[in-house]
Amino acid sequence: MKILVIGSGGREHAIAWKLALSDHVERVYLAPGNGGTATELKCENLGMPAGSDPASPEGQAFLTGFAAKQGIGLCVIGPEAPLANGIVDAFRSKGLPVLGPDKNAARLEASKVWAKNFMEKYGVRTAKSISVQDYGEALRLAAEHFSKCNTSIRPLVIKADGLAAGKGVVIAENYAEAEACVTSFMKDGSLGDAGKRAVFEKHLCGREVSVLAAVSITQGTMEHAAILPFIPARDHKRRFDGDTGPNTGGMGAVAPVPDFTPEVEDDFRGAVLEPTLRGIAEEGMDYRGFIFFGLMAAEKKCFLLEYNVRLGDPETQAVLPLMDSDFALLCLAAEQGKLHGFPLAWKNGAVCAPGAVAEGYPGVYRKGNAITIDQDALGKTGAKLFIAGAQRCGDGSLVNSGGRVLTMAAYGPNADEACERAYRALDAVRFEGMAFRRDIGRSRGCLP
Ligand code: AMP
Ligand code: GLY
Repeated sequence: MKILVIGSGGREHAIAWKLALSDHVERVYLAPGNGGTATELKCENLGMPAGSDPASPEGQAFLTGFAAKQGIGLCVIGPEAPLANGIVDAFRSKGLPVLGPDKNAARLEASKVWAKNFMEKYGVRTAKSISVQDYGEALRLAAEHFSKCNTSIRPLVIKADGLAAGKGVVIAENYAEAEACVTSFMKDGSLGDAGKRAVFEKHLCGREVSVLAAVSITQGTMEHAAILPFIPARDHKRRFDGDTGPNTGGMGAVAPVPDFTPEVEDDFRGAVLEPTLRGIAEEGMDYRGFIFFGLMAAEKKCFLLEYNVRLGDPETQAVLPLMDSDFALLCLAAEQGKLHGFPLAWKNGAVCAPGAVAEGYPGVYRKGNAITIDQDALGKTGAKLFIAGAQRCGDGSLVNSGGRVLTMAAYGPNADEACERAYRALDAVRFEGMAFRRDIGRSRGCLP
């Protein structure tokens, strides 16, 4: 089978690598792919027509044309923007096999207001919130929040309604920060239409856990509905060690998560997973793909912070190396509505996957820095290098083209050994301004 993977990040490198390991997969095309997928076994990058990308109608027309001509057996969508812009609908309208939620179902990620209404309607446990329609109302509610004359005022969580590439959530500690945020989102339009509306949410404490899952629900019925959660993972969103500094797209991940105990997992199933599945079916959605539950787990209870309608980045780079099943067959089963009873298995042990970023990220950073990899040293560590923001030059050399440059994923019998191996492997990679956290897999996020 030939597979087409849409996207260009570390997540897509990991997806393509795992798919290519399947005996059923002959070739993996990536659109557009990156400097890592360009040289991955069985993989090939596909140039997109100038000025188009998979989220644009022109890009989607190109991709459906390519899939039809090449006899692509499955198209797997990595990032959220093409999903929110109906790439799945474009493939299905031409009878082409594609894995991902349609545009309607993608609203679970594309609109926070819509997603919070969904959670409320179907009883999914989440933080209390209110949707805010305009700037004046936002200022009034923020003032009200911070004016209470008691010492227990918590920060205010402000979320832009639309897709904002990791820049849409601000945790305001005081009125001035809240005012600056809503002014930027709702008055100055810093996020475009994505910031026109917002959600104000109660601040929760606990430990963040990401549960990715394969899901298959069609025609609004629970009859053949299935959802298979993967082993839990933890992203590390803050830029600096000890969970300090600005939020980023993710500085590294680890899987599994020992503090996501069987007790909390049971709670997750009852309070989040099952009502979500019921809601998707009752809304009559066509959802065949992946769903990501961003959770805040307290002692025994967990709350849903957000849905993503795709696999997480960098969680995927930690989770897929632990999967002991054929990923291509899993993807096909989800697309064909045959997920129920799929033998999903996991290796024992852990994977630690620290990321390396360009100096200055998530702010301003340089592009075009040459990346050198000591392949012999890397080979000896047994770790897998997933490239994210880096491209190949004409001479085959690798230069950074984004802030999150790469993720190093290492397996170990336990998290400590996995982390040690991952950091040793990272020594084999160098680029000017290379920066990374040293506590991936060891820090536990915000504690109560
Ligand atoms: P989201 O895009 O909704 O996952 O939010 C991005 C990040 O903001 C999360 O990974 C959390 O670190 C943080 N966050 C979101 N909602 C809350 C909340 N209600 N309480 C505390 N932190 C939150
Ligand atoms: N790691 C969070 C995300 O993929 O959005």
